[in-house]
Order: sequence, then structure tokens, then C-alpha cells
Amino acid sequence: MDIPDFSKIFHQSSKDLAKGHPQIPADSSEWPDEWKTTYYKAYPRLPKIALDDKPPSADFFELIKKRRSRRDFTRTPITKRELSLFLKYSCGNTGSLEKSRHRRAQASGGARFPIEIYPIVFRSAQARTPKESLDDPTGQAQTDAENVLKAGLYHYNVKDHALDVLWDREFSDEDIGQIFTYPWVKDAAIGIVMTAVFSRNQNKYGERGYRYILLEAGHIGQNMYLVSEALGLKCCALGGTRDENLEKLIDIDGVTEAVVYGFAVGR
Ligand SMILES: Cc1cc2nc3c(=O)[nH]c(=O)nc-3n(C[C@H](O)[C@H](O)[C@H](O)COP(=O)(O)O)c2cc1C
Repeated sequence: MDIPDFSKIFHQSSKDLAKGHPQIPADSSEWPDEWKTTYYKAYPRLPKIALDDKPPSADFFELIKKRRSRRDFTRTPITKRELSLFLKYSCGNTGSLEKSRHRRAQASGGARFPIEIYPIVFRSAQARTPKESLDDPTGQAQTDAENVLKAGLYHYNVKDHALDVLWDREFSDEDIGQIFTYPWVKDAAIGIVMTAVFSRNQNKYGERGYRYILLEAGHIGQNMYLVSEALGLKCCALGGTRDENLEKLIDIDGVTEAVVYGFAVGR
């Protein structure tokens, strides 16, 4: 049986504004409220970890030159501060929450912000003793108690720049193999899962909006590469995600919200 070339059909049917999406009035005062609302996923009943946001300085052009996909991870943890900066400057809020149109590190078609981020910390880091901290005040992998990341499944709460703690648990090598396809991912510190909440974008842009959603994931991905480089972390984009297993783990239905992209991050 011939399998239809769905990508060709999709691409043709979403090709230009006239075919690809419904008429959008030029005057935004005629738009429905949902096109102008910024939606934030939140887990109000679950514990939350506040994150930092003061970045180090870096040479932007050098970062672009140095950016590479790095897969030689060493199972060394990253710190809470590093994850904070990684998230803030890849996909965090960078504008005022007072204004109705919020702004983030990435561009977003129509500022619809359809992407959600779920960091998976594979193994808990050990906090250093006060003596170890004194012996090595500039230690690369600072793991002072307040800077330690516990293993678990988290959701990046963009509005509060915080982590929602979805599941406090360790991930064995076997567990990691169930959610990512490449064997070296288990030596990273963190897996990043990007999902899309399709309706946020597609209730405005229809079929064509699907393109915008994947493009936005790519914008975030490039930020993740550059911020990793600035922080001295290694990272690699992952098309090799086991989507259905990840969707079960995160507890999303895989239809209204589904996995679109992944990253491995570590040292
Ligand atoms: C959408 C996308 C998916 C990717 N998926 C994987 C992957 O699953 N496994 C992998 O080892 N590299 C993956 N990569 C990384 C590419 O292999 C890498 O970018 C390419 O080889 C160029 O190398 P560089 O990033 O070091 O310049 C992916 C890159 C992109 C943009």
C-alpha cells in the first residue's frame, strides 16, 4: 500500500497566508481575546523552586563560532544556577509582565508562545561540605546546598521563572533509554523536553500555525546552544526522543499537547 506523502500535502495546503490560515483582520481591536492573551501553564498545587537570573558576560560572536553539538558527556551534574540561566535566556520572560503582550528570549509567531519546557534532571547532585567549598571557592561544578539540583521531572514555569516540581525521583540509565534513543544521553546531566500546546497558535493561524510552532522550537533550540556555550556546558539537539513514553511520563495527552523536540545538556 502506498503511504500518502503527508508532509507534501501539509506543506502545499499551508503554503501561503490565503490558503494556510483564516482571514486575520488587520485591526487588532477586532481580534478575539484569545489571540491577545498570553497563556502560561502552571501547577499551582505542586511545590515550586525559585530560579536565579543574573548572567555572566560573554562574547556573542565567539559563541556563534564555538557553538557545536557535543555528545561526550561525563555524568557530571549541572547546578541550579546554570539551569536557571539556561532556561531564562533560552525561553524565559525578558519583558514586562505588566504589559499585555509579553516578550521572551525567542521570537514567537503572533506572540502566541505555544512551547512548554520540561527539564528532566537525571541524577541528584551531592552538596559539598562547608570545608570542600572553602577549599575550592571557584569550583566549576558548584554544588553548595542552595545550588544543588535534585533528580526529578520539572516544568519550567515561565511566568514565575521557577521550576514546578512534577516528580521527585531518580532516573536510571534504563529509564533514560526508555525516553531518549541515543545511548550517550544517559551521561548528560539533564534532558530537556519541548512540547507544543497547539491550540495557542492554531486557533489563530490554523494549518500554517503548525509551521510556526516547529520554527519557534528551533529558535529556542538555537538559544539553548548559545547559552550552553556561554555557560561552559555541553548540549546536543535531539530528534531522537521516544515521544509516546515522554508524553506518558509528563502526563500530557500527546494530541492537544505533544512532544516536538529535545535536548541533552551536561558537562
Ligand atoms: C532538529 C535537529 C535534530 C537533531 N537531532 C539530533 C539527534 O537526535 N542526535 C544527534 O546526535 N544530533 C542531533 N542533532 C544535531 C546535529 O546532528 C548537528 O547539529 C549537526 O551534525 C551539525 O553539527 P554541529 O551542531 O556541531 O554544528 C539535531 C539537530 C537538529 C537541528
